[in-house]
Amino acid sequence: MAVKFSESKTKENLMRAFAGESQARNRYTIAAEKAREAQFYAISDIFIYTAEQERAHAERFYDLLKELVGETIHIDGSYPVDQQESLAELLRAAEHNEHEEYEDVYQAFGDTAKQEGFLEVASAFYQIAEIEHVHEKRFAALAKMLEDGTYYGGENTQKWICTNCGYIHEGVKAPAVCPVCRHAQGYFLPYEFACYKGEE
Ligand SMILES: [Fe+2]
Ligand SMILES: [Fe+2]
Repeated sequence: MAVKFSESKTKENLMRAFAGESQARNRYTIAAEKAREAQFYAISDIFIYTAEQERAHAERFYDLLKELVGETIHIDGSYPVDQQESLAELLRAAEHNEHEEYEDVYQAFGDTAKQEGFLEVASAFYQIAEIEHVHEKRFAALAKMLEDGTYYGGENTQKWICTNCGYIHEGVKAPAVCPVCRHAQGYFLPYEFACYKGEE
């Protein structure tokens, strides 16, 4: 059934998504500070990187509300109090929220948009859901390494990149200090998480 946008459930869902993304962005910038305090500088950067993507999602959803410029939209919603003390727990909380967005919330919002005849909005919900799935898996993998104590090495040889200077270390453990720039171990990132990897 085609519905007028101004009377649709979809306009509320877009505003809910805007609120959710805006909060996720702030939660991640706050988590980034916690990660810095715990001297996990590379994980802090991942929170900031993800926060910026949440900002981009928020902007996309906000943009889809543009024809209602000047209006106020009332919404109801539930939002998490994620102020866990440990970094692993913060990562698990982030994983949980990303999972909900991916598996439940944005699928349902996409389906409603489709039923109401807003196909562009529906595809934005489905596309962004897929990105949240990537976020979920990345947070989960990092949490697991912290829980297992393998972030800086386990039994096998692996690679890390120093996120300050770009030095790539191969070994069983990440160095305590980067041999090139002398920055602390917390700047080392397991290489599988590195952005902008070139050809090896
Ligand atoms: Fe998002
Ligand atoms: Fe996300």
